[in-house]
Amino acid sequence: MKYEFPSDFWWGSAVSGPQTEGVHENDGKGASIWDQWYQEDPEAFFDQVGPEETSLFYTKYKEDIQLMKQTGHNSFRTSIQWSRLIPNGVGEVNQKAVEFYNNVIDELIANDIEPFINLYHFDMPMALQEKGGWESRETVDAYVEFAKICFDLFGDRVKKWFTHNEPIVPVEGGYLYQFHYPNIVNMKKAVQVGYHTALSSARAIKAYHESDQDGEIGIILNLTPSYPRDENNPEDVKAAKIADAIFNRSFLDSSVKGEFPSDLIELFDEIDHLPVTEPGDLELIKNNTVDILGVNYYQPRRIKAKESDTKLADGPMPDDYFDYYEMPGRKMNPHRGWEIYEKGVYDILTNLRENYGNIKCFISENGMGVEGEEKFINEDGQVEDDYRIEFLKDHLRYIHKGLEEGSNIRGYHMWTCMDNWSWMNAYKNRYGFIAVDLDDNRKRTIKKSGYWFNELSNNNGFND
Ligand code: BG6
Repeated sequence: MKYEFPSDFWWGSAVSGPQTEGVHENDGKGASIWDQWYQEDPEAFFDQVGPEETSLFYTKYKEDIQLMKQTGHNSFRTSIQWSRLIPNGVGEVNQKAVEFYNNVIDELIANDIEPFINLYHFDMPMALQEKGGWESRETVDAYVEFAKICFDLFGDRVKKWFTHNEPIVPVEGGYLYQFHYPNIVNMKKAVQVGYHTALSSARAIKAYHESDQDGEIGIILNLTPSYPRDENNPEDVKAAKIADAIFNRSFLDSSVKGEFPSDLIELFDEIDHLPVTEPGDLELIKNNTVDILGVNYYQPRRIKAKESDTKLADGPMPDDYFDYYEMPGRKMNPHRGWEIYEKGVYDILTNLRENYGNIKCFISENGMGVEGEEKFINEDGQVEDDYRIEFLKDHLRYIHKGLEEGSNIRGYHMWTCMDNWSWMNAYKNRYGFIAVDLDDNRKRTIKKSGYWFNELSNNNGFND
């Protein structure tokens, strides 16, 4: 059977500025929370590899864009690092950053690769974090100024903008589960941070739509379908619905429908955790929803009714309302500890079609991080990552099914282009179509999956 996709389907990959560019002498970049955290606690990072080098995209972007061509990219997402463009978060613009992002955008376009640009990928400028980061409403104002500057500088050529990547992750990592700076556990602050992020997104969308630009603007969400252990057990179903409200619908509803889910509001109200808002905010969020939705899909969330009485913290936590369920026989990616459940991507598309007006969308990340890929290097020096090709096919079959049933899906971006720096996991797990040799000046070599993806993109599909 041939799995055929529309001729204008977007094929490509996603990266982020902080995970690929590196920090270079005299580049004028200010510190972000990642630079600061690494300075404070290098041991928190796998093998103590920090954010200074990453994959050296800052200097190797031309070579990388040629590799993108060879791996079938017709589109590519990266992010503009706020702390590179505006080192203090507000105020002076770094002209070296303007030059760098202009060069990258121009080089992509010259090679027929459409740039998709995201404005925030977990990388708060340290100068703003010191004043509270997303806890503070001033950060929302600063972010909107940053967004407007980006639209003015690059919007003549960039026609796909995204306000945030996975906005729930800094809420979870920074304020609940301690895997992002500032690493505190405080659900009240987490809610405020989430609220300000949602508000910032709507305000950036408003600014874009009010400008004379003619592209589209959206948001990228990591949607983790929330499956109850037993669909016939009301307590499991209720617990799964709460997890869905907190981790998915919080940003999905506010971004696509312009309103927060009523069950989430009730839950926060009951524990006196409603965020501080200002008059007019909710109307602004209602009137400024996304044109397009990026869906990052890695894993499902399996939930059962609360059984244990373990408390993760003194104060309230999401986990007070549910327990995680380890489904017997589930397929795991042992390197990342994430379940692989291909059908999840189809369930997301169906949900968007049935409950979110079939919003225009694309898969903006999907991928498989594997440790020790050196084991799979053949005598020609190529990583034979057949498991990644299988992973791709398994997901694409379900995406195709969604398409056939009428889902408004426009493309598929893999995480990621070249192996990159994965935050606290640094270079532990490799995700790329292109291997990066840390011991040889970050030398790049296309993996087997990269060649497979090239064929997929050239044929707009694959035979099975
Ligand atoms: C997504 C992020 O959560 O998944 C990326 O947008 C991240 O920044 C990717 O790198 C893979 O996750 P991880 O934690 O293994 O790097």
